[in-house]
Amino acid sequence: MSNGPTLALVGATGAVGTVMIDIINGRESVPWGEIRLIASPRSAGKKITVRGEELTVIALSPEAFDGVDVAMFDVPDEVSAEWAPIAAERGAVAVDNSGAFRMDDDVPLVVPEVNADKVADRPRGIIANPNCTTLSMMAALGALHREFGLKELVVASYQAASGAGQDGVDRLYAELDAVSGKGLGAKAGDVRAALEAGGLSLADTPFAGTPLALNVVPSAGSYKGDGWFSEELKVRNESRKILGIPDLKVSATCVRVPVVTTHSLAVHATFEREVTVEAAHKVFEAQPSVVLVDDPENGRFPSPAEVVGNDPTYVGRVRQALDFPNTLDFFVCGDNLRKGAALNTYEVAEQLAPEFS
Ligand SMILES: NC(=O)c1ccc[n+]([C@@H]2O[C@H](COP(=O)([O-])OP(=O)(O)OC[C@H]3O[C@@H](n4cnc5c(N)ncnc54)[C@H](OP(=O)(O)O)[C@@H]3O)[C@@H](O)[C@H]2O)c1
Repeated sequence: MSNGPTLALVGATGAVGTVMIDIINGRESVPWGEIRLIASPRSAGKKITVRGEELTVIALSPEAFDGVDVAMFDVPDEVSAEWAPIAAERGAVAVDNSGAFRMDDDVPLVVPEVNADKVADRPRGIIANPNCTTLSMMAALGALHREFGLKELVVASYQAASGAGQDGVDRLYAELDAVSGKGLGAKAGDVRAALEAGGLSLADTPFAGTPLALNVVPSAGSYKGDGWFSEELKVRNESRKILGIPDLKVSATCVRVPVVTTHSLAVHATFEREVTVEAAHKVFEAQPSVVLVDDPENGRFPSPAEVVGNDPTYVGRVRQALDFPNTLDFFVCGDNLRKGAALNTYEVAEQLAPEFS
């Protein structure tokens, strides 16, 4: 590797960390001199090939950050909460993918297409990455907001199992195995019965004790009271912070669906100024990280099966709401492990690199 800043990837062995390594390997060039892979002591010594070089994973410790310029964190909340400040104290800028710092007033919440300038304003030396549901619509929504002024936002999400980590993916596949070929009838209880017959308990599922195979689950994250789940409150609070609209009216309903990877959202957005489908199409076409697929007459619109593994946000089904002025309805799909997690973090890290070159 050439001379350049040192990049650390904390959580290199996880679901997001693995996609991060794919992204680094897929880049035509990288600005980094050294890339350091860090995980728990369980993974220390593991070998992972990065840009043709076999690297050895080291255990997380204060010394692991010596000489590091940018440290990306793809670890559970409590690990980030403890270790991102330690990385910052040792001179690195921490770019954190967890929920530990997103709503901290001294930590910018950055989506480069929307608020790249906030990267410079980081009093704690930490920059946060939004949650994957909010991120999946932000490139599209930010572009519309710049043009028409966003006023109100109502969204329903269709979230993939991998949003709940590797555990969520493993559980969905196990449930699909259990229900396939069972000759399920139309009775509501059949999926549960098939899971039980397959030896799968519903007591410890990552999906609120509800089957996900052949089902949809209107619950994401933890229950926060007054009827709201944490993912729905994140969509509201993080959208406001990223777009810089503290009083934005937001209401979200988050639903888990039996898709492995790629979140979708049905968005109902009201603007200050008049907006037409043609004008919105132009805005989407001018945004490099958005792909417009909007020909419903010929069955062309985004869906997770087409979008998974791709970097951009896909937008379609754009229409003017019939009974609501200055309002668009549209459908968005984004790979929750790429732009929804690893890619956005890496884009922020890339933006930081020239500061250390
Ligand atoms: N999945 C998504 O769609 C998504 C989207 C956006 C954000 N996120 C966030 O990204 C973070 C990572 O998620 P994930 O799905 O990749 O989780 P994961 O698959 O469980 O991976 C966790 C990673 O953290 C490491 N780790 C765990 N405890 C550690 C410790 N005490 N010290 C050092 N390393 C430790 C693990 O190392 P070992 O392998 O050594 O245990 C592993 O590399 C989470 O905060 C999550 O909320 C996830």
